[in-house]
Amino acid sequence: MPTDNRQLTTDSQHILTANELISLTGHQKAGDILKSFDKKDLLKMPGGKWGIPAQTVKAYFSERGVDYSFKVVAHINLKGGTGKTTSTISAAVRAMQYGFRTCILDMDPQGNASLAFDRIPEEDDPIFCDVWQNPAEMIMGSLRAIEENLHILPSSLENSLLDVQLMNPALQKHAVRGVCDELKKKGFDLVIIDCPPSLGTAVISTICAADVVVIPLCSDIFSMKGAKLTLSEISSICEAFHLEPPVTDILYTKFDKRVKTSVNALHQISSEYQEFLIPVPIRTSAEFSKAIEKKKTVFALKGKSSAKEDYDKYVRYLLKLDSNFKRGEK
Ligand SMILES: Nc1ncnc2c1ncn2[C@@H]1O[C@H](COP(=O)(O)OP(=O)(O)O)[C@@H](O)[C@H]1O
Ligand SMILES: [Mg+2]
Repeated sequence: MPTDNRQLTTDSQHILTANELISLTGHQKAGDILKSFDKKDLLKMPGGKWGIPAQTVKAYFSERGVDYSFKVVAHINLKGGTGKTTSTISAAVRAMQYGFRTCILDMDPQGNASLAFDRIPEEDDPIFCDVWQNPAEMIMGSLRAIEENLHILPSSLENSLLDVQLMNPALQKHAVRGVCDELKKKGFDLVIIDCPPSLGTAVISTICAADVVVIPLCSDIFSMKGAKLTLSEISSICEAFHLEPPVTDILYTKFDKRVKTSVNALHQISSEYQEFLIPVPIRTSAEFSKAIEKKKTVFALKGKSSAKEDYDKYVRYLLKLDSNFKRGEK
């Protein structure tokens, strides 16, 4: 299992700063919240600022009622380019910073999430299609560390074999769930799954395992159609397998208030999918392509950005963090 965060070096890309934390807790100044911690539980960052390691955040949040019980979140839309991978990698990093021991399952044979973290599997490295039949034995040796508390089961083209391997519906029901159950046993709090743009067997199996399905969509007509089909597929799969349907959310991505079609689409989605829509759209930002170029996530880039702000709000919504902090609470 991931080791103690105090062993982290300060070149870790993803240490939360006190300033980032106070936007959630309602403290007025970074100095105020730093007083809540023992110095030995903090990290001195380059430039002299204090960083707050994930384990320290977890201890602090746990005392304030944040729920770290195990969850599986999947990003699904049968249309490509809607922000599934971006949402997976950004949410995973932020959740880890907030103390969730997080594992990304890359289920897309294109392996974009693996690529984003520079964790492309070598030819002999086990990936999901090798692991699901014996997760208890295989899973820990197959994960790649990104940070102490952030791991990924990377993906490559061989995962296309899943369409053949999981032809039997009974296997579809158990494959992803079996892997997630094992990750829970190994001490992870959160699994975030990045799905391919299809409704193939890997996605069906993911739907059977997910507590929450988030459907990212943007303003183009195809991604909205994809969302509609994904929603109806979720209910038919759960009916067929006699499963409680997952919580389903819609995340509007690539929102640009200067573009009329983007604003109109948001209005349309708000009225059509009112009960599903996450009340925070993700704005269009050049930070995402900048991050990909550097093989980083937006949270590893310097300075404030709408990209960080929006995915921070998304994670707070997803993990219900805000309800534990009233503004001004110490
Ligand atoms: N909010 C955003 N603003 C700008 N570009 C974005 C945003 N979200 C995603 N992108 C870009 O759009 C492209 C597709 O996003 P991606 O997350 O890979 O979609 P999917 O996984 O659904 O195919 C990527 O190049 C990504 O960097
Ligand atoms: Mg993708």
